[in-house]
Amino acid sequence: MKNFLKCLVCFSEKQPKTSSTKNRDYPWEIYTLKELVHATNNFHNNNKIGEGGFGSVYWGRTSKGVEIAVKRLKAMTAKAEMEFAVEVEILGRVRHKNLLGLRGFYAGGDERLIVYDYMPNHSLITHLHGQLAADCLLDWSRRMKIAIGSAEGLAYLHHEANPHIIHRDIKASNVLLDSEFQAKVADFGFAKLIPEGVTHLTTRVKGTLGYLAPEYAMWGKVSESCDVYSFGILLLEIISARKPLEKLAGGVKRDIVQWATPYVQKGAFDHIADPRLKGDFDRDELKKVIMIAMKCTDGNPENRPSMLEVVGWLKGGVGSRKKELGIVKNNYMIDGYDEDEDEEDEEDYETDYEVFGMEKYVTRSGGEKI
Ligand SMILES: Nc1ncnc2c1ncn2[C@@H]1O[C@H](COP(=O)(O)OP(=O)(O)OP(=O)(O)O)[C@@H](O)[C@H]1O
Ligand SMILES: [Mg+2]
Repeated sequence: MKNFLKCLVCFSEKQPKTSSTKNRDYPWEIYTLKELVHATNNFHNNNKIGEGGFGSVYWGRTSKGVEIAVKRLKAMTAKAEMEFAVEVEILGRVRHKNLLGLRGFYAGGDERLIVYDYMPNHSLITHLHGQLAADCLLDWSRRMKIAIGSAEGLAYLHHEANPHIIHRDIKASNVLLDSEFQAKVADFGFAKLIPEGVTHLTTRVKGTLGYLAPEYAMWGKVSESCDVYSFGILLLEIISARKPLEKLAGGVKRDIVQWATPYVQKGAFDHIADPRLKGDFDRDELKKVIMIAMKCTDGNPENRPSMLEVVGWLKGGVGSRKKELGIVKNNYMIDGYDEDEDEEDEEDYETDYEVFGMEKYVTRSGGEKI
């Protein structure tokens, strides 16, 4: 990695002007410091759009009139430089409609800058818990679109990118939203490339509390299913607009799965939905998405689905999943597949659980398990 970084630095210092890379599908550019200073009004405070562990993010406009977001490394530590290199290396390799586009970078002297497409609707976190939350721009269909888009971005990293990539920091602030509220997964500074044939790696734990899969938080065991777990947390957060971890009286922390589980057990799915939606959502879809989230956050990584399955479930609906699994009852497809079907709601809950293998969460009103 050191060599790669050295190479990046000398490459960028030798390039006097912005220049497109030739042998890549995705033409990122090496910017000059002058151009980025100019674009961001010398990193003026008024241009600042956010701050994270890596440094500050600034809005800018290039001389060609393109809006950009520039992330500026705050301290030149070895750790930060490694994150910079990993981010540029990985984002430079991938291209997908649901991954934030890398426009380029600058690396020279003590300055490390990463240039991205500017996302006018900021990050998901600002809509769920931040300044834009009160405006409630995220109606149910936008939330579903964001969930599907983030899932597709992750599925691409896990299954299509070569080598496969584990993100390791899936969370609401790392899902950015373009002008159409299309999700773009961002921040690859903690990502890991997975060599062919390797099922999991053991590493130092990085990531964000509340989103970490238990086997990863405890043993540093990292595999694609750690991202699936984080995605499940994100899904519950999208639906409920609750934070992944909340502090209760007495300093006790409760995670979002612990909060949601009793409602799931009672079949009280509506209680999990964000009250700001005012009940304006498709109840079957809500139930389905909650069950997917519970499956993704299973304590045992082997019970979690792959991101490809998650995308299929989110996009295809419960009915098509049942069809795929060939689950039939009385010779017709259950729940939503036979238009003449006339079953009680409670029965539907039960059959939904069968489809997702979620029986352990289901209890009848008295709390007894089926
Ligand atoms: N391309 C972009 N377009 C618009 N806003 C962005 C862009 N990139 C980042 N931001 C904003 O800047 C904020 C800070 O981003 P950053 O990734 O540095 O930190 P973070 O995600 O909040 O935390 P962490 O350092 O743990 O990743 C984001 O929450 C987002 O609102
Ligand atoms: Mg981030």
